[in-house]
Amino acid sequence: MKVTVFGTGYVGLVQGAVLADVGHDVMCVDIDAAKVAALQAGQIPIHEPGLAPLVQANHAAGRLHFTTDAAEGVAHGELIFLAVGTPPDEDGSADLQHVLAVARTIATHMDRPKTIVNKSTVPVGTADKVAAEVRQTLAARGADIAFEVVSNPEFLKEGAAVADCMRPDRIVIGTSSAAAERQLRELYAPFNRNHDRIVLMDVKSAELTKYAANAMLATKISFINEIAGLAERLGADIEAVRRGIGSDPRIGYHFIYPGAGYGGSCFPKDVKALIHTAQSIDYRPEVLLAVERRNDAQREVLAERILAHYGPNLRGKTIAVWGLAFKPETDDMREAPSRNLLQALWAAGAQVRAHDPVAMREARRIFGDRPDLVFCDSPMAALDGADALAIVTEWKQFRVPDFDRVARALRDRIVFDGRNLYDPAVVARHGLTYESIGRPAAAPKSTDAST
Ligand code: UDX
Repeated sequence: MKVTVFGTGYVGLVQGAVLADVGHDVMCVDIDAAKVAALQAGQIPIHEPGLAPLVQANHAAGRLHFTTDAAEGVAHGELIFLAVGTPPDEDGSADLQHVLAVARTIATHMDRPKTIVNKSTVPVGTADKVAAEVRQTLAARGADIAFEVVSNPEFLKEGAAVADCMRPDRIVIGTSSAAAERQLRELYAPFNRNHDRIVLMDVKSAELTKYAANAMLATKISFINEIAGLAERLGADIEAVRRGIGSDPRIGYHFIYPGAGYGGSCFPKDVKALIHTAQSIDYRPEVLLAVERRNDAQREVLAERILAHYGPNLRGKTIAVWGLAFKPETDDMREAPSRNLLQALWAAGAQVRAHDPVAMREARRIFGDRPDLVFCDSPMAALDGADALAIVTEWKQFRVPDFDRVARALRDRIVFDGRNLYDPAVVARHGLTYESIGRPAAAPKSTDAST
């Protein structure tokens, strides 16, 4: 089928490449000319495992095109995906200006019926707004052309976006048009072969499903973080509690890892937007408000831990930081808990030596050159001359460090772990003090770092 995708961010680019890979003829449109030129040259603007070869192969095979020409894009696809950003407005509501601008563009250029498929995460009622915008623009042109607006939210995770998109758990399609349903079933047939993953519903339910999914996951995380705080204060071990509750299939093991708080481009923004939606119709979202408050507090926990240990003045102290990205396998630092940590450390006068396998370039872009931030080529290099280590992202490169070297390198022999990567007893055996989330602190068992 001929498909056009507006927006070459995470969602649009991955979706476009994956649809091309199963044989569809896909044109990706973006207003950013530099980005389009780079994509045409096979350069991928984001770090996403498996994406570069997928884009390059399908581009070379002539199934994946990139353009800045909106008219060409509209002419190309019978299905037109909206995958542009919906950044939060000042009040937390989703800013629809990009979505509505593309709707106008489509209506300006279309000369035959189109099915507009919304992939962006947008508040309930947006499909109606898109339809109104298209209708109005068509009317202004004096054109009478049929169109449908379908909601088809995306559930991919950064760092696993290609795999998620190739093997979706579910394909939510919100439409009451039989013709649009048929088109989307045909489009997704290659992903729907073994058992039916399509969940068909009305447009508004599909729009709400996306927010409900992210808010539910954010709730699980804030919940376990709250219990971790309790465990810490009561002398219990959250990792034992986590395994204990996860074994109940109604709860499950997924998304109950305590940590330094959730970040990224989705959870914080979507929880905020859903709160805003609820409040805009005078419905008080008690649970969502608590989820957000808990996470705001959780993002400060690691810094608070360090300040509780050293006191409020960190002048003269150097803290090594492992991990800057909001999670492993991405260079994305949007709403990353590392940002809270770094700001708090700097505010207290500390020096930071940071290492992240892929996000250092992004960190440099965000923070610029500053004397209290040194980027280091390896985890161990970050420890040179450091007093303590703080871990914010659970990259697999950090999972089995040489603890003896860590103990020798750190002046104060202390590790603050925001992701509970290690067994406290093991760390303590290597002569390190170990503070993690929701577990009793472990004091060094031996001062002999060679044991
Ligand atoms: C999320 C959803 O998972 C995805 O379905 C949706 O389409 C977009 O939002 P993403 O933001 O890429 O995806 O990251 P995800 O892997 O879900 O992690 C989100 C945050 O939660 C990260 O900061 C992560 O560290 C944190 N997290 C996750 C926890 O703190 N504990 C957990 O148990 C799981």
